[in-house]
Amino acid sequence: MTLLKISNLQLSMKSYEGETPILHGIDLTIKRGEVWGMVGETGSGKSLTGLSISRLIPTPPGRYLAGSIEFQGIDVLKATDREMRALRGRHLGMIFQDPTTNLNPAFRIGTQLVDVALHAGHADPSVLGLSPGASRRQFKDAARQTAIDMLGKVGIPNASERINDYPHQFSGGMRQRVLIAMAMIGKPDLLIADEPTTALDVSVQAQVLRLIHELVAERNIGVLLITHNLGVVAQICTHVAVMYCGRILEAGAVHDVLKRPSHSYTRALLDSVPTVHTKRGELRGLGDLQPEALA
Ligand SMILES: Nc1ncnc2c1ncn2[C@@H]1O[C@H](COP(=O)(O)OP(=O)(O)OP(=O)(O)O)[C@@H](O)[C@H]1O
Ligand SMILES: [Mg+2]
Repeated sequence: MTLLKISNLQLSMKSYEGETPILHGIDLTIKRGEVWGMVGETGSGKSLTGLSISRLIPTPPGRYLAGSIEFQGIDVLKATDREMRALRGRHLGMIFQDPTTNLNPAFRIGTQLVDVALHAGHADPSVLGLSPGASRRQFKDAARQTAIDMLGKVGIPNASERINDYPHQFSGGMRQRVLIAMAMIGKPDLLIADEPTTALDVSVQAQVLRLIHELVAERNIGVLLITHNLGVVAQICTHVAVMYCGRILEAGAVHDVLKRPSHSYTRALLDSVPTVHTKRGELRGLGDLQPEALA
């Protein structure tokens, strides 16, 4: 079943120097059960594509010149704010690239997690393991327990106590994990994760990737995983889209794209990954590939 269909999405951004086209016609379709990796160098438009899906780019300065984003039958670019809030809270989970700005410093970690769990639970009690007739008390207890479990699953030790802490009592990496927990707690249909593991050490990174994998297996969700790490893509993604200068150059099943890249940029990207056999001084860069040569 198709969850998300982005067609010919074109976005420009206004700045002091005028209007700059950023996305030049993105096409991407994500079905349930698919884990899409999105790779590409810095500035290629990965985050702006992810933010567009949840309609989190302010317009202005952004302007959509053409195209559409359809999520579960809703035309995202034309939906009302109310419809979008309902989508974001329940069906669309998002982990942002910059975790420092997304927790409210004035509320305990637990309060913020429980809030999201309750919101999702009222829309679909099965998220909390409840039946529709459950009492308020049961909802509250289940939401709190789910929050503790989720915090534990993202690797916060002593979750049942740490849930009473405020964000400033957590380290940067721990706050990142709270945000990952928050995006997953409502068991969204589509999870958009923008560089979710860059700030984390490898063991926690593996844990988070396993969690994403579990959620896919358990709820048959779709995932868009934005990352610089081709190893991560090879490990957990079923599909991959390679972005360059606001375009998707190549997209398809992971084993096709990584094993038989058809585009010179994708080949260059794969060649630039160091392996344990790479000799000192042999690491290759992307050279001076020009966007014009790729278009
Ligand atoms: N608010 C903005 N106003 C103007 N230009 C912007 C704005 N936000 C992003 N851009 C530009 O849009 C382009 C794409 O940005 P985006 O953040 O999507 O890149 P990215 O692929 O996520 O990069 P990274 O890998 O560094 O996260 C960049 O060239 C950036 O300079
Ligand atoms: Mg980004």
